[in-house]
Amino acid sequence: MKVGFVQIFPLFGKKEENLRKTEELIKKEKANLLVLPELFNTGYLFRDRKELSGLAEEIPGGETTEFLLQLSHRTEISLIYGMAEKHKDRIYNSAVLVTPQGKIRVYRKLQLFNQEKALFDPGDKEPEVFEVEEAKVGIMVCFDWLFPEIARVIALKGADIICHPSNLVLPYAQEAMFTRSLENGVYTITCNRIGEEKRGGMKLSFTGKSQITDPKGNLVLRASEGKEEVGIVMINPLLARSKQFTKNNFIFKDRRPKYYKRISTK
Ligand code: ACM
Repeated sequence: MKVGFVQIFPLFGKKEENLRKTEELIKKEKANLLVLPELFNTGYLFRDRKELSGLAEEIPGGETTEFLLQLSHRTEISLIYGMAEKHKDRIYNSAVLVTPQGKIRVYRKLQLFNQEKALFDPGDKEPEVFEVEEAKVGIMVCFDWLFPEIARVIALKGADIICHPSNLVLPYAQEAMFTRSLENGVYTITCNRIGEEKRGGMKLSFTGKSQITDPKGNLVLRASEGKEEVGIVMINPLLARSKQFTKNNFIFKDRRPKYYKRISTK
């Protein structure tokens, strides 16, 4: 199975340009699954909830999802991308899977980062696992990397690949994802954005280095820090089905939840 990332520099508020750029980068590629960054169609630094609300879209029905459904159908590539989702009076930082057959699935970011808490509503659903051709695919978004529970739950639900649309600004996540892969025996695809945003007195630099890791926690492919690029590799998702770690150790079976599942924090 051919999987990859589409590392781009989204221009703030310029949806049409961001969608066209994505189309240009993808349209000649041959792949089964490609991952785009978090909030890839709008950019990241919203001044306030009103501005965010003006750029958020319904799923299905919004222009971004309609556009990517068509693109997925034409290219025969399943796509996972981050965008602001409007649902009644809520706005979620969501990631969407669209397939060439017209399937649409949504994950709503559970762990909001820093100033996102003043803008978005936190996700309100358990992460799910979706079928993409022969693979089982789970989704988490950016800062979810700091919470190993999310990757664990996705892996326990059977994911072979964790897709991770991101807008990373801290220096840790790419390294942490090696551990998310190893401790769960899964592939991960982190698709990060690049570039800088300066808005409303705030400034952020995004770290690029989109990457793919394998079920043994090895780096398979990594993009540059500062260039727009598509990276694609061939993987065997079935390698993520064996959770045998040593002759006598199994990643899931050897867990002892009886001794820690009741621990909670205030
Ligand atoms: C992030 O969660 N966008 C850092």
